[in-house]
Amino acid sequence: RGGPVIAVDGPAAAGKGTLAKRLAAELNLPYLDTGLLYRAVGRLVLDAGQDPAAPAEAFARKLTADDTQRKDLRTQEVARAASLVAAQPAVRSALVETQRRFAQARGGVLDGRDIGTAIFPDADVKLFITASPATRALRRFLQLGEDPAADDAKARLANMADALKARDAADAGREAAPMQVADDAVVIETDTLSADAVLAEVLRVVRERL
Ligand code: C5P
Repeated sequence: RGGPVIAVDGPAAAGKGTLAKRLAAELNLPYLDTGLLYRAVGRLVLDAGQDPAAPAEAFARKLTADDTQRKDLRTQEVARAASLVAAQPAVRSALVETQRRFAQARGGVLDGRDIGTAIFPDADVKLFITASPATRALRRFLQLGEDPAADDAKARLANMADALKARDAADAGREAAPMQVADDAVVIETDTLSADAVLAEVLRVVRERL
């Protein structure tokens, strides 16, 4: 490969995206949000009026760059559909080469669920970024521009935590490339850390290993 590969895995809304993007900029490496691939497949399936639990390989095979750049991939409905199509081995196989090819020329920072375990088992650095469901729900809540002082904030937060937990359970419990901590991954608990502090810690870990 033409550069180092850094795998950033972890559960939903743990801050992987923010971190991976900043890390890539800092190290001058290409960045790929692999969740967007599954979200884009989920979106196409929903658009076609198909049940996301039904075989979706054909959608994954015809995925284009434009599909992954759509603005409507960040909803809870799409996340759920993504998780359902991502459980299908044929969908995952269809997306493996895209991910490996991405890092071929210059290496890269890739964030997802199975980067260090399945896509790049030989990654130069493997990070597993996590936080408690309550912390992750609050971060996602604020990121979506929700008002924490609103009357129904508590119920909406609880609802978000439930949705995150359900998706994590599905992602960790599936047969095909389940989300798990790679043996040689460095686990970073981010509950009490700011985004800047997480980046600083990760840069320390990465520089030690590259
Ligand atoms: O990271 P994000 O929340 O955008 O991912 C959406 C869904 O895509 C995840 O819940 C998971 O089911 C799936 N996914 C995956 N493997 C990856 C990245 C995402 O299975 N590498």
